[in-house]
Amino acid sequence: MPLHIRAAKNDDFPVLAQLSEPVQKLHAALYPVDFKRDVDAVNVASFFERVAARPESAIAIAEQDGVPVGYIWFDISSRPENAFKPPQSFVYIHHVSVAPDARRRGVASAMLAYAKEKAHAAGVDEIRLDTWIANVEARQFFEAHGFAPFIVMLRRPAFTP
Ligand SMILES: CC(C)(COP(=O)(O)OP(=O)(O)OC[C@H]1O[C@@H](n2cnc3c(N)ncnc32)[C@H](O)[C@@H]1OP(=O)(O)O)[C@@H](O)C(=O)NCCC(=O)NCCS
Repeated sequence: MPLHIRAAKNDDFPVLAQLSEPVQKLHAALYPVDFKRDVDAVNVASFFERVAARPESAIAIAEQDGVPVGYIWFDISSRPENAFKPPQSFVYIHHVSVAPDARRRGVASAMLAYAKEKAHAAGVDEIRLDTWIANVEARQFFEAHGFAPFIVMLRRPAFTP
């Protein structure tokens, strides 16, 4: 059976919790201060349930031969004009992850194509995301798909000179 990308359903939240484990572990290994090493799968499932209830959010699951192998969570964001900026609309990808043994077979590319289709259907012409500097593989994936940096986030300890 070919690769199939479908919208997540209400009984998928535990599956999403499972699918998010590798990316959580990776982030926790790379940035132990920023990410929990041990997460509660029930809490994570509830998190996805709350996200899915938001009107601007979309979650999709990639299935290979009927087996879930990846997921993507993105928002279609519309920001009203303010004193400094014109109105802006863009798709914002919060998570995209593929099971380790299903990588380099086009799964994430197919999920990105799904997000692009949703952006197109919503009349939105830009996709944004952030990715952690140390996550080299993800950066290579995004670069291969034409994403380029446009903002830099900085930090430093508060109490050292
Ligand atoms: C990044 C990630 C989502 C890519 O998923 P994937 O299904 O393996 O990606 P694809 O097979 O669609 O790759 C498409 C192209 O992206 C590039 N690419 C993907 N993974 C790469 C890697 N590890 N190293 C170098 N280039 C890579 C390649 O150009 C690849 O094409 P090719 O295989 O023909 O060379 C996957 O590695 C992953 O789940 N990583 C952990 C989670 C994560 O970091 N998510 C992003 C942060 S939220």
